[in-house]
Amino acid sequence: MRLDKFVSHATGLPREISKRLIRKRQVQVNGAMVSNAAFQVEDTDSVTLEGETLHIPGPRYLMLHKPSGVVCATEDGDHPTVLDLIEDMDTEGLSIGGRLDIDTTGLVLLSDDGQWLHRVTSPRHLFSKVYRATLQEPLDQQTIDSFAAGMLLRGEGKRTAPAQCEALPDNGARVTLNEGRYHQIKRMFAACGNHVLSLHREKIGAVALDDTLTEGEYRVLTETEIKSFTL
Ligand code: URA
Repeated sequence: MRLDKFVSHATGLPREISKRLIRKRQVQVNGAMVSNAAFQVEDTDSVTLEGETLHIPGPRYLMLHKPSGVVCATEDGDHPTVLDLIEDMDTEGLSIGGRLDIDTTGLVLLSDDGQWLHRVTSPRHLFSKVYRATLQEPLDQQTIDSFAAGMLLRGEGKRTAPAQCEALPDNGARVTLNEGRYHQIKRMFAACGNHVLSLHREKIGAVALDDTLTEGEYRVLTETEIKSFTL
């Protein structure tokens, strides 16, 4: 989108005034002053006007690199929440697509588009989730087979859906789940006599955690990433 259009959309100011502000060098893109009103703003660009970050109103779609110790909730009396990590954006209305345990790190998706979030999490649409675990004991073939076959977890009447599990160096394992049950990976490894020391989500559907995001950082999803859940 052109920069003058972006500024008008985000502020509600007429296009002529946006152009004037840009000409007067009051608009920055990713921290650099841009005086060309025709400059093309990409989804991931950060545009500021007189130091204030501008946002196009409407659905917001974010990926966040969740650190350990932060809860996937919109409010919590005891711990910081993923919303507390979002500082330069109004978090009103944002919800989480696919929660992680407090000690799990990695990819969390957030949006205020309820229908989109429903697709991301609904078992009907089946977007797989990929995790990297560090285990107390090395991964054995029996565990890989049990994950693939599905297993009955304590207190549940339905077997888990087939899950893929592959060994990584240093007692690591990469697990692909096609459903999301409470503490599922920890409980599946526990049922196989192992223990998860740490867990990290790498991917949901086709969207992988951006490796330029350090723990606690987030960015707006690209159009391609957003659309990957609606194809
Ligand atoms: N499985 C778990 O055990 N914990 C998570 O946070 C996600 C999947």
